Amino acid sequence: MKFFVDTAEVDEIAELNALGMVDGVTTNPSLIMKSGRDILEVTKEIAEMVEGPVSAEVVALEADQMIEEGRKLAKIAPNIAVKVPLTWAGLKACNVLTDEGNMVNVTLCFSANQALLAAKAGATFISPFIGRLDDINLDGMELIADIRQIYDNYGFDTQILSASIRTVNHAYQAAMVGSDVMTAPPKVIKQMAEHPLTDKGLASFMADWEKTGQKIL
Ligand code: E4P
Repeated sequence: MKFFVDTAEVDEIAELNALGMVDGVTTNPSLIMKSGRDILEVTKEIAEMVEGPVSAEVVALEADQMIEEGRKLAKIAPNIAVKVPLTWAGLKACNVLTDEGNMVNVTLCFSANQALLAAKAGATFISPFIGRLDDINLDGMELIADIRQIYDNYGFDTQILSASIRTVNHAYQAAMVGSDVMTAPPKVIKQMAEHPLTDKGLASFMADWEKTGQKIL
């Protein structure tokens, strides 16, 4: 499973990128707002740092304007994936932008039928939002499994990009059901390394090592 980082904070991306953990980055208007940066500038900086796809989201609601915005965003760098919302206008924009050779990430997906339409429109990525479904007491992970089955039934090559990943359990489940990609905040990716038995085991090894009086270096 590929790891995308869901943030517009350049320093946090750089830290994970140095570990080889970053296969791509996703941003959205809220993350750009949080960063306090100009969308064109920060997206360029991220796209130069990371080799994989960097999603930058359009903010128009009509297809024609989405297409214009998408073309402008795509010009920032060759690894930009234009993010469009899963609306009828967004699907139209997806179709045009992919025909022009751009990567397109269709976002705000909350049903299997929406994901089917995105694949038909030629999306490079479909972003189902796990956490936001869980927020309203629905099973986000069941949606990922359904989309996996539908895409496999018909051989669609649109990649499932599990989004709105809020917990390490979401990350585990996304991997278990065969999501192609997950995008998670840096904090969640780091938490995946944690286990209380690792901490306990390390503490006991350190205590015993102390008793040997030896040094390696
Ligand atoms: C994905 O592309 C979105 O930016 C993101 O995953 C949304 O996550 P949230 O529901 O935690 O805001």
